[in-house]
This record gives sequence, structure tokens and C-alpha cells, in this order.
Amino acid sequence: MMKVTVVGAGNVGATVANVLATKGFASEVVLIDIKEGLSEGKAMDIMQTAHMLNFDTTVKGVTNDYAATAGSQVVVVTSGIPRKPGMTREQLIGTNAKIVKSVVDQILEHSPEAILIIVSNPMDAMTYLTLKDTKLPRNRIIGQGGMLDSSRFRYYLSLALQEAGYPATPTDIDGMVVGGHADKTMVPLVSIATYKGIPVTQLLSEEAITKAVEATKVGGATCTKLLGTSAWYAPGAAAAALVEAIALDAKKLIPCCVYLDGEYGEKDLCIGVPVVLGKNGVEKIVEVEFSAAEKAKFAESVAAAREVNSKLGEALA
Ligand code: LAC
Repeated sequence: MMKVTVVGAGNVGATVANVLATKGFASEVVLIDIKEGLSEGKAMDIMQTAHMLNFDTTVKGVTNDYAATAGSQVVVVTSGIPRKPGMTREQLIGTNAKIVKSVVDQILEHSPEAILIIVSNPMDAMTYLTLKDTKLPRNRIIGQGGMLDSSRFRYYLSLALQEAGYPATPTDIDGMVVGGHADKTMVPLVSIATYKGIPVTQLLSEEAITKAVEATKVGGATCTKLLGTSAWYAPGAAAAALVEAIALDAKKLIPCCVYLDGEYGEKDLCIGVPVVLGKNGVEKIVEVEFSAAEKAKFAESVAAAREVNSKLGEALA
């Protein structure tokens, strides 16, 4: 029996619940929100698809009733406000830090053993805040950013390859994005990106690769500009993929935001690096060799993440 809670029934949270239901590995998904009736309505809408989509997962919506989340093995935290066009994720810290802290405290009262997946932005800082606030072992606090950014990277590389005359789809591409989940400083790892095992650097011009990298970095902001609010299908699917890897003990290698204690030469910081996810949450942090340029970019990303973390005290005051 696998019980999962999703906190926040906005676009991202509801998408996580919907993807989890259609995947069918959880027996119960609890969707919780502070807005009266929102979770209940979204859960009802999802359950009305059960027959057509052929799933047996029960999705239950509740308003602020944390007792209903008791005994969850995995909890996804999407609470907080999303960004509007022109905003950075970092600008959300003042509002979202207080919300995330309060949500996590209430969740742990009822599910003290849960593994927490943090989605709320600015995600790297919210993950760090959760780790410091809860003092839980680091394997149980995971920030979702790398899965989403890597999926966007694969998409934009597939478009670049199509333009260059190759019949590529996103699933033909292997690629990872590390560093912070931030427009300017995330680090798409070009050096290890491949198309059916072929390094993309052999098939694409430097210009085409740069275009794909830059499109990846603003992949969220581009959606936000078009939608008037932040994206949800890809962020929701990304969080659900992390839940799946943990719930099924799949031991999948996925870039996630985790607390570093010496790995990659960094300490006391949560940032995106490749990890193995299984039933214990983070089972291993994998240290891969970056190119010299990627190393420099990762260092910049680390500095930017530390700068955002330094504002947490003020945000919570
Ligand atoms: C994005 C937001 C949700 O990247 O962080 O779409």
C-alpha cells in the first residue's frame, strides 16, 4: 500500500496527482490545499476519469485537513505562489518560505517517516530551508528541478537535431541539467548529451547547441510568458517521476536538488546533481566529471544558490 500526499492543488499539484493516478502504482493520493473546495473538486474531476483511463488509485481531496495525510510515504510540496511573466523564481522567496515551512511542519506531524519532494520556488532555497528546519537526514529531502530541466533540454535538443535533418524525438536523447533551478545559472551538461548514444557535439553546430541550451534555461519563463502563469504539465510530470522512482524503489539516476556535504567540493548547500533515487529517497550522490566550462558554470550556479539562501532568514522573519 503506497500513500502519497500532494500539498497544493494548483496547476502543478493537481497535475502531480493526475499523473500519479494514471500511473497507478499508488493506492491512495491525498491532495490538500488551503482553498476551500479546490482539492475536493480537482480530486473529483480526476476520479471521474478512472474508468476511462483504467486506474485503481484513489485520489482524495481535502481542505487543510492534515490528519487525512497521515501515514504518507512520499509527500510532494507544491504550495506557494507561482511566478507571473517577467518574474524570477527568486522573487517568490518572501511569500513562499513561510508557506513551505508551515506546510512541512504540519506534514511531518502526521507522516514523520515521509520522504519530502520540494517543488515550490525558489526550489533550491526551499529545499535547503526544509532541510535546516526539519533536521531530517538528507536522503529524505529532495528538490525537483533537474528532472524538469533535463526533460526540457532533451526536447530542445530534439528540435535542434530535427532542424539538422535527424529524425530525433525527446526520448531518443540522453541529457542532464545540473546546478540550480534558475534561468541564468542552471547547467545543461552538453558534454555528456547524446542522441542514440552519439554525442550531440558530433552532430550539431556550436550555434545550434547554444540555442538549445539557452532555450532550456528559459524553458519555464517562456511558458510563463505565453500562459500568464508558470507551467504545470512538465513540472507536474517531473515531480511524479521522482515519486515513482522512490515508490517503486527503481534506483533511477536523476538530477535532483540535494544537500551537499563535500560532494562536488561543496558543503552546506542544496543544489542539483545526479543522484540515485530509490525507496530511501536519495540512495547515492553520483559525482560525474564536468568539462572545464561546465565546472565554471556550476561554480556560478552554486554562488547564486548561496546568495538566495542568505535571504531565507529575512524571508522568514
Ligand atoms: C518552471 C517553474 C515551475 O520551471 O519553476 O516551469
